[in-house]
Amino acid sequence: MKPTLDIADLKEIARRRVPRMFFDYADSGAWTESTYRANEEDFKKIKFRQRVLVDMTGRSLESTMIGEKVAMPVALAPTGLTGMQHADGEMLAAQAAEEFGVPFTLSTMSICSIEDVASVTKKPFWFQLYVMRDRDFVINLIDRAKAAKCSALVLTLDLQILGQRHKDLRNGLSAPPRMTPANIVNMAFRLPWCARMLKTRRRSFGNIVGHAKGVGDLSSLSSWTNEQFDPRLSWKDVEWIRERWGGKLILKGILDAEDAKLAAATGADAIIVSNHGGRQLDGAPSSISVLPGIVEAVADRTEIHLDGGIRSGQDVLRALCLGAQGTYIGRPFLYGLGAFGKQGVTMALEIIRKELDVTLALCGKRLIGEAGPDLLYKE
Ligand code: FNR
Repeated sequence: MKPTLDIADLKEIARRRVPRMFFDYADSGAWTESTYRANEEDFKKIKFRQRVLVDMTGRSLESTMIGEKVAMPVALAPTGLTGMQHADGEMLAAQAAEEFGVPFTLSTMSICSIEDVASVTKKPFWFQLYVMRDRDFVINLIDRAKAAKCSALVLTLDLQILGQRHKDLRNGLSAPPRMTPANIVNMAFRLPWCARMLKTRRRSFGNIVGHAKGVGDLSSLSSWTNEQFDPRLSWKDVEWIRERWGGKLILKGILDAEDAKLAAATGADAIIVSNHGGRQLDGAPSSISVLPGIVEAVADRTEIHLDGGIRSGQDVLRALCLGAQGTYIGRPFLYGLGAFGKQGVTMALEIIRKELDVTLALCGKRLIGEAGPDLLYKE
């Protein structure tokens, strides 16, 4: 067997093991996918300054994100339908993150519920909230996250309306998958995935089914989700959620310096510079390209995190050098999960850790906190 050396290797294995509908769901961006591509490509333009004959012993990647100790400043991003990449995917990814020492963020649109994840983890995880029109449902979710002792609420702001992803429409995405001839043929080549899926009872949105009014089965669920994203969401709602939650709050989906100022004014503990992995506004700039402007605007007021396009430890270091305190990976851990389950998530994290460690050392630094613009060439 070929060794698995980087995230691209994990991606190719996941492509062969996960039914096409769900692999494509992870791998898709909105419309032409230009922002999805830019997220990855813009990282490559940033070059490191190599330094030599610097003492490289005693290196450490340990850091903090919103005051929590992390083995390296890389969290797992909230991703919907993670339990469709691999049966019980959210539970496995949360365990892998916990063992590794990095935060795991559970999506509102997860397959495993808040309670499922809490039942298999010992340390607090983070919960990502979509504000739905049904505010009673939102209140209930917040209360469930509190009861599960989640240590941060990640409030996603960039999905008041759903970006169109062509692959999902063409594939007729649904969870559980519909038994169309194309799906049956595709799944017939992925029997281990099917066998694991048949063994678990978790095959639909665990935070929603049985909790939201009128959602009992698949058809009521899809009409509910289509109606529920709230086009009227405003900064006032952010204030309301902040009060209702009362704990650490991270605002996700900021791409503009003016929005960053408004977000910082809410008193949020951190903001995530993000374009939702290129899945919302196609044609928006890459996250890494807007990071310096946002750092300049609000770094003195809130902690700044970034996601979108990180495919290596080198990309993590680039983001840190440009002023991010923490980063998130979405697809890289999903590929790991699809390829090898929990072990694959650990592999994705190990790959990133090794790349980050070696790159930092070759730039002449020993501590991750020393990452700064001096490690990069000026444009
Ligand atoms: C996402 N993302 C996302 N974000 C969020 O706030 N709630 C969600 O439910 C989801 N769901 C989701 C599903 C899938 C399959 C992907 C790939 C992404 C966005 C995610 O949190 C993050 O912003 C991006 O994934 C970061 O980009 P990379 O690392 O995937 O390039």
